Amino acid sequence: MANVIILGSQWGDEGKGKIVDLFADRFDIVARYQGGHNAGHTVFIGEKKYVLKLIPSGILRPGKKAVIGNGLVLDPAALLSEIEALESAGVKVAGNLFISNRAHVLFPAHRMMEKMSEGREGRISIGTTSRGIGPCYEDKIARRGIRVADLLDTGFFRTHYDSVMAEKLTIAKTFGIYSEMDLGSIRDEYERFAERIRPMVCDTAVMLNDAIRAGKSVLFEGAQGTMLDIDHGTYPFVTSSSASAGGACTGTGVAPTRIDGVLGVSKAYITRVGGGPFPTEALDDTGELIRKRGKEFGAVTGRPRRCGWFDVPLLRYTAVVNGFDSLIITKLDVLDEFTEIKVCTGYRMGGKEICDMPPTVAEIEKVEPVYELLPGWNSSTFGISEYAELPGRAKDYLAFLEERTGVEAGCISTGPERNQTIVRAGSRFARLVGA
Ligand code: GDP
Ligand code: IMO
Ligand code: MG
Repeated sequence: MANVIILGSQWGDEGKGKIVDLFADRFDIVARYQGGHNAGHTVFIGEKKYVLKLIPSGILRPGKKAVIGNGLVLDPAALLSEIEALESAGVKVAGNLFISNRAHVLFPAHRMMEKMSEGREGRISIGTTSRGIGPCYEDKIARRGIRVADLLDTGFFRTHYDSVMAEKLTIAKTFGIYSEMDLGSIRDEYERFAERIRPMVCDTAVMLNDAIRAGKSVLFEGAQGTMLDIDHGTYPFVTSSSASAGGACTGTGVAPTRIDGVLGVSKAYITRVGGGPFPTEALDDTGELIRKRGKEFGAVTGRPRRCGWFDVPLLRYTAVVNGFDSLIITKLDVLDEFTEIKVCTGYRMGGKEICDMPPTVAEIEKVEPVYELLPGWNSSTFGISEYAELPGRAKDYLAFLEERTGVEAGCISTGPERNQTIVRAGSRFARLVGA
């Protein structure tokens, strides 16, 4: 069996959770490689709804191992409450979840530090999830972060924590963002968290590589999306981790030579939450209709998602950065009621066609999308699970996206449930997931 990465090809919320849950049963292990509890992956199984934030969606498949890789930032309070919610919904977590000893630990002070970038005059507000994700990654890169292994080493943790947190208090007080915080009792609380997570902690890179060597297969689960990637996204309106395919290697310790394929999840349209440029944003009634039909409200913050039309140049860009073998087109059913569907097929700037994704926000904001209009199919695709049963115009729409992006659409999602999914026979997708 292959080792495959499934990740978001747009600005997040593409439906990765549904897809990872659906295909997790074909793999032995599902490993998350970056991000933290800024992610919100909603999975419906029958009447039951699960929202996964830190834990890979593969946990919902009995007997599968789920890994929180070294590339994540881990808020133990968020993790433990997610575990409790899953266990009380009947999902077995103990014994199936493995946490990297090299993942970084997120503290309440990181949330306080986020006010530096988000709330202060003169700073660009990103519209983050306010979970402290960016400041925790800042500590990691600045080489003063506290890792899970450090948290478990009580003596070391105490001294290191006290020194790192003292710096944060000084900064917070200097810049007027301090909010009352009892650092001592937080430290005690984290020591108690440490004992609760200790049985799940191991060297997950060793575990994954041993498993691969023994012929087991791994599904790497991305959070956020490529356009939110710290390097390749719409910087600075991005998250602070490597959401793109390369992040799967650095975020788990599995080498690129062990990975067999990369699958990009993309909505049949596009959304983004928070600030930042968005060339195909539909600020009219059509955007409102997409939001309503697609129930486009953030799973973590409840914010309305900004909605717009499928962006081919953006997808071509993320296909190159990730080397997509296949696309998984989700939420096709959301477009069922449109008589006409717009697709952005090119970018122009100052009247001239441009081929590459501009590097700066200022330039992306100047992009003039070139649209082509496709006829809608005006009939329900909701729940269809056979490609042959799709209306002709829906097939034409998919063929158009494949032709323009240059990537096959090997899987199509027509509803939130597992069985509301089409796998194209003979596709690269089917080969990679063994469908
Ligand atoms: P993720 O962050 O990429 O996992 O995506 P989210 O879970 O944040 O957002 C996707 C939402 O769309 C979830 O509520 C899913 O249940 C839902 N969803 C996924 N696929 C489909 C689909 O094909 N059709 C419809 N109507 N909803 C879907
Ligand atoms: P999933 O995994 C959509 C966005 C935030 C903000 C920016 C930075 O569910 O697709 P952060 O808190 O990460 O520093 O915020 O990134 N963002 C997401 N948008 N889906 C997500 O995750 C996101 N995680 C972060 O809205 O614009
Ligand atoms: Mg989401």
